Amino acid sequence: MSATIKLEKKHFPVMLNELISIISPLYGGTFIDCTFGQGGYSKEILKNSKNKVLAIDRDKESLIEAIKVKKKYKNRFVFENIKFSQINDLKINKENLRAIIFDLGYSLNQMKDPNKGLSFSSTGDLNMQMGLNDFSATDVVNKLSEQNIEKILRYFGEETKSKLIAKKISFRRKNSKIRTQDLVKIIEIIKKGKKTKIHNSTKVFQALRIFVNKEISELMYGLINSFKILPIGGMIIVITFHSIEDKIVKFFFKNYSQKKNSSRYLPDNIQAEKLFNLFKKKHLIPSEKELKENISSRSAKMRCAVKVKNSNNFEDFFRKFEYLIDVENLSKEL
Ligand SMILES: C[S@@+](CC[C@H](N)C(=O)[O-])C[C@H]1O[C@@H](n2cnc3c(N)ncnc32)[C@H](O)[C@@H]1O
Repeated sequence: MSATIKLEKKHFPVMLNELISIISPLYGGTFIDCTFGQGGYSKEILKNSKNKVLAIDRDKESLIEAIKVKKKYKNRFVFENIKFSQINDLKINKENLRAIIFDLGYSLNQMKDPNKGLSFSSTGDLNMQMGLNDFSATDVVNKLSEQNIEKILRYFGEETKSKLIAKKISFRRKNSKIRTQDLVKIIEIIKKGKKTKIHNSTKVFQALRIFVNKEISELMYGLINSFKILPIGGMIIVITFHSIEDKIVKFFFKNYSQKKNSSRYLPDNIQAEKLFNLFKKKHLIPSEKELKENISSRSAKMRCAVKVKNSNNFEDFFRKFEYLIDVENLSKEL
């Protein structure tokens, strides 16, 4: 979800009605909820007694809600505290698998958790780990070179002031460790007087969150490995919240849903196979009613495709987003 989220008290599963109307014709099998969170989707799917749900979340806090769901639905529900890139390690009956669902980003609970430090109103250390991480935002801001911080802010935050902010970070950390409010102040000073629709820190916080949680490779391997375990006729549904993740999902579905001629005149990097049928050509967005009830759904885009063919060749997908994976790999410096 967007880091500008308004802290509503109630949890709203985003585009739940749209999701259920797409998957209900497939009822009577197993659904994988890759981003369990507070279990909004899983609980709705389990209301139909013919369905089973296998839920995943990298945040072990999700276990609290998952235990409640398990008590109610017993052998129709399983929860695994893993990252969705590891989806192909799960032991499941693949034939009964109907759809795999991703509701990307973070939940309201995570946003409100002061220990996670996802919000720019948090006090204390920078963290941003959603779970099962190797390093935190404190490590990034206090240890990574100025040039590499600049790249992260530019590519993962699309931050136009990336150079100035990285420079100021590298200067300021010589005195003492940079904590959440120090970073907010640095950004405020650089952007002072600049009126924008979003909070001045939104892009920098988004960039750090994507980097700390390796969201690019998580999403790419999540999509590829989901494709591999899905039977023909199975669906992948993804809800994205920012332009970088949406660009990746859009390419994955569009590129592999076009039949291209295997011609000797085409370059080698053109994928010749059609692996998906797009459920709808254009993405879906939340209804007016939902936008009124839950303002943080405003940037949501739902994309959905049906698998029509097996394949192991995703070279052009990797080639297309190699530049983002290269930025992610800057963490090797830590
Ligand atoms: C927007 S919330 C999902 C909300 C959920 N649909 C609901 O109704 O409660 C996203 C969830 O995905 C989890 N998540 C994000 N990236 C993940 C990953 N790579 N692997 C597993 N879980 C992930 C987060 O920890 C968070 O709980």
